[in-house]
Amino acid sequence: MNEPVIELSGVHRRFPEGPAALCDVSMTVGAGEAVAILGPSGSGKSTMLNMIAGLDRPDAGTVTVAGVRVDRLGEAGAARYRREKVGMVFQFFNLLDDLTVLDNVVLPAEMTGVGRGEARSRASGLLETLGIARHARAYPGRLSGGERQRVAVARALMNRPPLLLADEPTGALDSASGEEVRALLRELHADGQTVVVVTHDEGLAASCATRVVRIADGRIASDTRVVNGGSGAPAGVADGSAAVAR
Ligand SMILES: Nc1ncnc2c1ncn2[C@@H]1O[C@H](COP(=O)(O)OP(=O)(O)O)[C@@H](O)[C@H]1O
Ligand SMILES: [Mg+2]
Repeated sequence: MNEPVIELSGVHRRFPEGPAALCDVSMTVGAGEAVAILGPSGSGKSTMLNMIAGLDRPDAGTVTVAGVRVDRLGEAGAARYRREKVGMVFQFFNLLDDLTVLDNVVLPAEMTGVGRGEARSRASGLLETLGIARHARAYPGRLSGGERQRVAVARALMNRPPLLLADEPTGALDSASGEEVRALLRELHADGQTVVVVTHDEGLAASCATRVVRIADGRIASDTRVVNGGSGAPAGVADGSAAVAR
């Protein structure tokens, strides 16, 4: 496998008054992989993504992303980590409605101290690439769901993160817009972006993942390499926790 971008080892997470949301989860994701994490509602997908994003911490186990021990970061360290190392896309876009599309996309770069000129030119380039340049001066409320999700993807890519995370990115979209977003994720993967998508949408997994990790009741149930869009051989070693060479 390429150099690891994500290493989860023995991750446990339990919220008060519930069963374990994650139980002994170990998984390694290499640079350039496109991984879909599939599972029913409540199976622990978002909890897992939040660990990787540094939005939540495990009760036990370690989370390492791009060489950073995410589980050990304090609040400020985690905020900085999120700005520099991960781009996140959510089901409901999480755009700021009183900023224009361009200003939404520029924001992460400004927060890392990139100059305004450079940030705006980088953002314009991304909007161009993602086919939404004509909406640069519009407010997100005027855009379709698919267009809004493209803006969210542009924003997520703004700081050129080694890792793109998406939580149910097609969950709020009609099927045509969903297909646009799937195609976009496929293109990003083809360009070498490491992508982890959490979803209960089998079609999304089938269309843009090179590896499908199934999770049930907070545990990894299977870990399968996808070959040419079909299902392939198991990706993991005996315990299903680590990927084999590509
Ligand atoms: N902040 C929280 N407080 C309490 N329980 C939570 C919290 N977040 C998630 N859970 C619980 O953890 C389990 C997994 O949730 P989640 O990771 O959101 O599942 P999924 O994303 O697969 O639908 C569920 O039982 C959910 O109720
Ligand atoms: Mg979820």
